[in-house]
This record gives sequence, C-alpha cells and structure tokens, in this order.
Amino acid sequence: MVQAYLDRPWLTRLHAHTGSQGIPLSLMARGVAETYALAEEINRRAGRRQVDTLDIGGGLPVNFASDATTPTYAQYARVLAEEVPGLFDGRYGLVTEFGRSLLAKHGTVVARVEYAKSAGGRPVAVTHAGVQVATRTVYAPGLWPLRIAAYDSKGRPKEGPAVVQDVAGPACFSGDLLAEGCALPLLEQGDFAAALDTGAYYFAHHYAYNSLVRPGIYGFWPDGRFAVVREAQTVEEVVAESGGARVDALTESP
Ligand SMILES: Cc1ncc(COP(=O)(O)O)c(C=O)c1O
Repeated sequence: MVQAYLDRPWLTRLHAHTGSQGIPLSLMARGVAETYALAEEINRRAGRRQVDTLDIGGGLPVNFASDATTPTYAQYARVLAEEVPGLFDGRYGLVTEFGRSLLAKHGTVVARVEYAKSAGGRPVAVTHAGVQVATRTVYAPGLWPLRIAAYDSKGRPKEGPAVVQDVAGPACFSGDLLAEGCALPLLEQGDFAAALDTGAYYFAHHYAYNSLVRPGIYGFWPDGRFAVVREAQTVEEVVAESGGARVDALTESP
C-alpha cells in the first residue's frame, strides 16, 4: 500500500469503511486507527503530507428496536478521540459516509391493510408493503427485523389490546412477511401498518418481482405539508420495463 502511494504522488486520500450495522464502535475505531497509522506512515516515507484527507466511511449502527438513537454520533466521536487522538487535530481533512444512521429513522413505509385473515391459528394483516420494499427483511428476517406501528383507517394510532399477529405483504409467496408474530392492536381491513425506521436501505431496494410498482416517496414540512420526493412508478412504466417496450424483440428479425 505504501509503495502504491509513493508511486502515485497524486493519491492524496485514504478510505476505510469497516462495515455496516452490527460492527461495534471499538472495531470501527480500530479500523480508523489503522487508516490513520497508514496515512502517517505514507507521509513519513514520502517526506511530505501526501495524504491530506481521511475518509472514515459510514457504518454507525442504527437501533431498530426502539425510537432511541443509539449509539449517537457524539459517542462515536468520543471513542474516536480516545482511540485515535490525532484524528481531530486538524492535520487531516475528514470525510464521512454515514448512510443509515442519518436516514433510517427519518423514513416510514406506510401500507394499507387490504384484508385481514387467520392462518395457522394466527391473525394475518395483508398489506401493500412486502418484499418489494423490504427485500432484506423478508428474505432475512432474523438479520433485518422491523418494528410495525398500527394505525386505524383515519391514521390515528390504533387502540386495543396487543394481539400476536403477522403483517404480510402482497407478493405471491407465503413468506412475504414484514413482521412475524408481532404484538400489536389487531390490524383490520382498511387500517394502516407502518414499518418504522425504513428511511435507509428500503426506498433504495425496490424489487420488481410480481410487477409491483415502486412506491412514491413523500417528504413533509414541519407545518404538515407534503411534497413528492420520488414519483410512484406507473403501470405503463412497469409494463415497459417488463418487456412491453420491446414486444417485437423476438418476433421480428433485426
Ligand atoms: C463504502 C461504503 N460507505 C458507506 C456505506 C454506508 O454505510 P451505513 O449505511 O452503514 O452508514 C456503505 C454501505 O455498506 C459502504 O459500503
């Protein structure tokens, strides 16, 4: 690595992204410490400040289990200051690439309950959000569990005793579950299920299976006004993407 930098005097930055979600702060800080040490070594061997900026990646985990923001950026900064004292002394520019820690808690997927049923002795609320917006959660629920909040048909928090139920999506396989066995006021037809903390890694991961449209994204102003941030996909776009735009591709020779 050092030789690679010495051979390329125009290389002025070092980058490390230790990993995302589930990486302890101490391990993240160790990754940054190694990067910092390498920058110091390169600069020593180059005899000049060749590396002037460190990019310490993202990776701060998000607490998906409650509304609490833990760990915080302040905690991470404290650990970094302890483990890598030179990092904040101003000699290096710093770049971060935080993703989910910035965005996850600012987004919610809201889906109408199309109908409610019972299967395997358990109530199931079948909604419009499943594998097409929560691909990781549906295919690896143990690794990417989601909290669900229940709202009535007017959007008010749903009242009532907690009932253990499944919240399912619209796709054609039985495992299309946003949440399995979660205790919530009983969801009924016309209610809304909100999948919380889905502002990162959900809107980006649309899955076109079953030709389900990519949903719109709506931001809101503090005064309650909504703004379209991303248009919902139209049926025409789904048809075009599914081959409709090239219907003659295999019937007419080029
Ligand atoms: C290189 C790099 N930087 C930043 C990120 C964002 O990570 P996170 O969303 O965990 O902050 C990722 C995601 O894996 C990544 O690969």
